[in-house]
Amino acid sequence: MAFPATRMRRLRRTDALRSMIRETELSVSQLVYPMFVTAEGGPRTPIASMPGIDRLSIDAAVAEARSAAELGIPAVLLFGLPASKDAEGSGAWDDEGIVQLATRAIKAACPELAVVCDLCLCEYTEHGHCGIVRTTTEGSFNGVDNDATLELLARTAVSQARAGADAIAPSDMMDGRVGVLRAALDEEGFSDLPIIAYSAKFASAFYGPFREAADSAPAFGDRRGYQMDPGNLREAVREAQLDAEEGADVLMVKPALPYLDVIRAVKEATGLPLAAYNVSGEYAMIKAAAAAGLLDERAAVLEALTAIRRAGADIVITYHAKEVARWLAQ
Ligand code: PBG
Repeated sequence: MAFPATRMRRLRRTDALRSMIRETELSVSQLVYPMFVTAEGGPRTPIASMPGIDRLSIDAAVAEARSAAELGIPAVLLFGLPASKDAEGSGAWDDEGIVQLATRAIKAACPELAVVCDLCLCEYTEHGHCGIVRTTTEGSFNGVDNDATLELLARTAVSQARAGADAIAPSDMMDGRVGVLRAALDEEGFSDLPIIAYSAKFASAFYGPFREAADSAPAFGDRRGYQMDPGNLREAVREAQLDAEEGADVLMVKPALPYLDVIRAVKEATGLPLAAYNVSGEYAMIKAAAAAGLLDERAAVLEALTAIRRAGADIVITYHAKEVARWLAQ
């Protein structure tokens, strides 16, 4: 006579047994907290689409970094909003630029906190593209000049390294940038500095709130020429393998929740440490739904981040980091 197996149900009955057989843990030690540092305005300017996240002056960023460190968050990821923008994005590699100044100030105040510098030109270019723009003979947008952009990214990486960055995270998606950055950093004496490569970065609608926060929406054209098509999994794995071959220390998939299968595939194909970026739009969706009383914010955030870990991410970059640290400590 066949009885239903009851082993699973028995193990789920008590908290103690459930925790013994839990396959995936979400811990504050895996979280990275992104911050927007600005050269203009007051100490804190709220970002309308991202409740709870502000644009920060350098002093406010130091205070925010300190509170993240006190909560046990091991790393912050810095984005800079410069005082002025130009065609090449020269604010990115200015040794006195906003990210460089913020990195120095945060490292001086909290030496134990890792500072990761996002490396891209789109916050610094007046057109909002991630590199040098090419135009047709008629003067219309003709994509980004990959190889010319690499040179500027290398300058920026070295400048961020000199400012005291603990890791560099290129998010531009130019081909060959990991190899070029690795060579440039090695040549300048930063051979120990890790590269966290945004390897599979999709051309995503979920970056909308970030582009408001960083004022980096492209003024014309779009990023589909250099960011990935959301339908492509094999290409994502290939991108990740190329970054690994070029010397990336950590790979990244971005966004996270709509791309859990990509996280799993990249993890299995490379075995390298893997980060997933729970991006601005993913954050905004939960915040908006919770504010409307449509779901339980704490439960939804913990479930979402656990799912990202279960898919294969070692590191989770999330704007929820501080609230999650508080919840996990309770
Ligand atoms: C810069 C960059 C973007 C994000 C991180 N780095 C925006 C973009 O590519 O448009 C998005 C992060 C987020 O949405 O939270 N290239």
